[in-house]
Amino acid sequence: RSAAMWGASARSLAKAASIADLRVLARRRLPKAVFDFIDGAAGDETTLADNQAAFGDWQLMPRVGVDVSRRDLGADFLGRAAKLPLMLSPTGLTGFFWPHGEIAAARAAGNRGIPFCLSTNSVAALEQVAEAAPDTDLWFQLYVMRDRGLTDQLVARAAAAGYRVLCITVDLPLTGRRERDVRNGFTMPLKPRLSNMLDLARRPGWLLGVMRAPPTFGNFKTDNASGFTNIAQHVSTLFDPSVTWDDIARLRRLWKGPVAIKGILHPDDARMAVDIGADAVIVSNHGGRQLDHVPAPITALPDIAEAVGERAQLIVDSGVRRGTDILTARALGAVGCSIGRPFLWGLASAGEAGVDHAIKLLAAEIDIAMALLGTASLDAITADHLRRRR
Ligand code: FNR
Repeated sequence: RSAAMWGASARSLAKAASIADLRVLARRRLPKAVFDFIDGAAGDETTLADNQAAFGDWQLMPRVGVDVSRRDLGADFLGRAAKLPLMLSPTGLTGFFWPHGEIAAARAAGNRGIPFCLSTNSVAALEQVAEAAPDTDLWFQLYVMRDRGLTDQLVARAAAAGYRVLCITVDLPLTGRRERDVRNGFTMPLKPRLSNMLDLARRPGWLLGVMRAPPTFGNFKTDNASGFTNIAQHVSTLFDPSVTWDDIARLRRLWKGPVAIKGILHPDDARMAVDIGADAVIVSNHGGRQLDHVPAPITALPDIAEAVGERAQLIVDSGVRRGTDILTARALGAVGCSIGRPFLWGLASAGEAGVDHAIKLLAAEIDIAMALLGTASLDAITADHLRRRR
């Protein structure tokens, strides 16, 4: 899987000093319609911008005179030790952004000692990913399908393949309206429109990769006659908008291991998730891709932390771009954060090496920020290390 053939050079990857730099690299590598599918969000993308900006509502208050010569960045995600308070979010179509992209990302996560969550909508079959990344802490993200038999089969397959955590995403009864995708006529694979053809002609490396590993939905068969999948249509055909807490509770009982519920913003929903037996709540607005004008997760977190207390772990997802974001989330009661686009930008730039680079950047930022904050371990970070910006 040499990155050299179709990815960014090792030199330009090494020069990427931040997640924002990786986004620039990804933009260079990807056809516009694919870059926009990853980058874009719903409506006016107000929430997309706010997810990141809202971290600025908080300021870190450093303490001095603390021995920070050794820092422990380890965190515990649902009973398994991770080397960082960080995990990779489930993202559909990931093998479309880089050949065998899910496997590359799962392996990179494992090598850095953090969890990887595989999407229902992966290109690789869940069994292939488990086989290729046996040392990774694997979570399986479930969308509840209209066909409950098929849903239960997926759950059984994930358990049989060794996935440790079931992550049920609850904020996608249908797909949010992402206008960049509408304008670009985004489908997987890309339709041979003039704009796409011109784009692909300038990106032979990307095209070669796609031809090497033709994208499909690896976890189930779709009867899509045209061969071009429109994501909103795919979701409305297969996924069930009538899902209620009863369905989620049933799935909770079906899964023997830990369960995380992803896509919660209201404290009462967080309480409900815990009441039906969720072990973790992923505070998320789906990276701003669903309903525009909802609060950023970091804004919603304090009320949720109060509602849930010690009864479940909280994970912040959406807009995390900096090590300091992760420390802010810790100070407000989260066990850690999860990232979507940041690792996808690394992946689209340079495959497994690019995902590794994204994780490495955030690890270095966390490490330096902990030292400068005067905290040698994550548990030492308290609410007193934060102030609301005035
Ligand atoms: C997603 N997300 C997502 N979530 C999920 O539960 N199942 C999925 O299949 C997908 N697919 C998906 C594809 C792409 C391209 C993106 C960017 C996102 C949402 C994802 O898990 C996560 O919530 C957000 O990506 C977090 O926001 P940031 O880190 O991208 O800002």
